[in-house]
Amino acid sequence: MSSKHNLPPLEYADIHTHILPGIDDGSENLDMSLSMLKMLQNQGVRNVALTPHFRTQEENMKDFLEKRKESYDLLKSKNDTNINLALGAEVFITKYILKYDDLLPICIGNTNYMLTEFPYSAPFDEKTFDTLEKFVYDYKVTPILAHIERYPALMNDVGILEELYDMGCKMQINLSAMETFMTSRFLLKLIKKNLVHFVGTDCHRLEYRTPIYDRGMAAIIKKIGIDYAEKITNNSLLLFK
Ligand SMILES: [Fe+2]
Repeated sequence: MSSKHNLPPLEYADIHTHILPGIDDGSENLDMSLSMLKMLQNQGVRNVALTPHFRTQEENMKDFLEKRKESYDLLKSKNDTNINLALGAEVFITKYILKYDDLLPICIGNTNYMLTEFPYSAPFDEKTFDTLEKFVYDYKVTPILAHIERYPALMNDVGILEELYDMGCKMQINLSAMETFMTSRFLLKLIKKNLVHFVGTDCHRLEYRTPIYDRGMAAIIKKIGIDYAEKITNNSLLLFK
């Protein structure tokens, strides 16, 4: 097994990727998907969640699930890496999501964790909270807020993140954000406050939004210590059971 990466040995997980071939604006074909998985393997990643965009305003869940299954079956049959895969979705939250009775089919793996995306200008006001509360209390789903660093409303007010956490939400950051000085400084503080639970590359293609995991994770370990990387990794492993 290859172990040429520079990260200390942990069961690293990337819980946000667009590696499934031909389903969204991520990987264009099977070859690209396999190369992306190989890149992550070479950086020490052992678990990858496949989270294609589910655009709830444009397509219905049945069509999405059929398309996703076809793409997943193909990738799984040709996956020659040592990476464990879990199937999920990055669910764009609109009013249309609430017409479904069951959201478990779009949660990650066999869990009730659902990766959610909002418009970047989302205010995270009462209306957003109402929707998230419906997920938690009515659907019994745990929302993971994808790439929290992208939302000014969240980056300007840690109090909102604390409220979201108290309600039962989990937070994910993109590792590429660790390469921007001011953002990374803020995110490290959030990790220390237990307001970041997952990391991901949010990788899309080989030449664009590339699968780079190790640099961001190495930065976390260097700046605040391996215990935090271990905690994040352990949170993530729950998604791959
Ligand atoms: Fe994404």
